[in-house]
Amino acid sequence: VDELATIRRPAALADILERTAALEFTMASEDRTGALLRSLAASKPGGRFLELGTGTGVATSWLLDGMDSASELISVDSDPRVQESAGQVMGSDARLKLVTEDGAAFLKHHVPDSFDLVFADAMPGKYEALQDALRVVKIGGFYIIDDMLPQPNWPADHQPKVAALLQTLDALDDFEIAKLSWSTGIVLAVKC
Ligand SMILES: C[S@@+](CC[C@H](N)C(=O)[O-])C[C@H]1O[C@@H](n2cnc3c(N)ncnc32)[C@H](O)[C@@H]1O
Repeated sequence: VDELATIRRPAALADILERTAALEFTMASEDRTGALLRSLAASKPGGRFLELGTGTGVATSWLLDGMDSASELISVDSDPRVQESAGQVMGSDARLKLVTEDGAAFLKHHVPDSFDLVFADAMPGKYEALQDALRVVKIGGFYIIDDMLPQPNWPADHQPKVAALLQTLDALDDFEIAKLSWSTGIVLAVKC
């Protein structure tokens, strides 16, 4: 099955991808991750969503595409250069708030159980400040990460970090964990 052939992309994505290429930003999410995020966003009407690592806004556009009009998304990045590009395309969407801040600092000043979905796509919330990211997920909410299957661009010391992260997630007793061989390798965790 060629699942990529049938995925409907968000209307904003073509423009975002052009800008992403112009900025030579190579860390953007791919379509299967986006499609999964969109479905998860659609499962939470009136939801509150958090993306750590906006980049140029690729996953942001997929999340917005699944969200209803009462939902809101905060997307955080420490690099204004790439995040501004996301703002140029989606900044007029009232459901989106772009925050330029270190992801770990952002997590520190948020109360527990405040988001229906956290897409942790930066070092903070994943390899750093993991417990802070898990803390802000609501009961029944999703914590989701990608890039968990070996990728050609990984530095030599990355594989042990991935293994350690998976071990930590597996040991959590307040999350149900599913490891998906989908896209770049997804972990989908639901707080219980
Ligand atoms: C994998 S990319 C994000 C890709 C994006 N989510 C997408 O779907 O295309 C990681 C992003 O994390 C940002 N980043 C790196 N360190 C960060 C930090 N300490 N706090 C917040 N963002 C950070 C980078 O600027 C980069 O844009």
